[in-house]
Amino acid sequence: MLELRSIFKSFHDGESDLQVLRGIDLSVAAGQSVALLGASGNGKSTLLQIAAGLEDADSGEVRVLGRPLATMDERQLAMLRRRRLGFVFQQFNLLPGLNVLDNMLFQRRLNRMPGQDEWVDELIQVLELGPMLKRPVEVLSGGQAQRVAIARALAHKPQLLFADEPTGNLHDTLSRQIMALMMKLVTGSGCSLLLVTHNRAMAAFTARRMLLEAGHLQELE
Ligand SMILES: Nc1ncnc2c1ncn2[C@@H]1O[C@H](COP(=O)(O)OP(=O)(O)O)[C@@H](O)[C@H]1O
Ligand SMILES: [Mg+2]
Repeated sequence: MLELRSIFKSFHDGESDLQVLRGIDLSVAAGQSVALLGASGNGKSTLLQIAAGLEDADSGEVRVLGRPLATMDERQLAMLRRRRLGFVFQQFNLLPGLNVLDNMLFQRRLNRMPGQDEWVDELIQVLELGPMLKRPVEVLSGGQAQRVAIARALAHKPQLLFADEPTGNLHDTLSRQIMALMMKLVTGSGCSLLLVTHNRAMAAFTARRMLLEAGHLQELE
């Protein structure tokens, strides 16, 4: 489903050269979930961006659904992201000028999926979005925007879900409910999940836990 082979990535700031990823190998099968742990600044977000084809690695190969991203043009990549991938960004990246419901349904509509079904209803209910569906996303609090970002990433039932600290600012009960929603997609639809978290309780939901440290990935337990 997702395969990373020998991924290297550096950032160059003036004279300093920061080697963030130093040979990352990772395979996530269909229906498998992986939590990515590691201190702030260790490159977790960079790894997710590369795995989702949103950033280029310096070297190495990324395969999504069996296809190397490097062989795909912009249009094919956009289509892959729209249909198959879901991404909860650390900065949420909601679409301005659209209300909560339109943000949530954005990818579903592009994919010509119905605007309402049991899954959409469940997301609205668990994420407590009902009272704010018509509100512009610009007026939301941080926690509200985060819940909308999660709904948007899950609504079209992606086959590969990337979530970057998705429950970072939310209280424990809601965080566990959100983990349960994501795991429902994993076990029910065979979605693969790559989750960045620093919270061990959230990482306990996934099948595997990996630590990103000094540019290398290490399986925990
Ligand atoms: N576009 C960029 N330009 C320069 N440095 C970057 C860039 N993106 C990330 N970095 C640096 O790479 C390191 C890893 O960042 P990041 O992937 O965001 O870590 P994490 O998500 O684990 O906190 C940090 O030191 C960060 O400052
Ligand atoms: Mg990060």
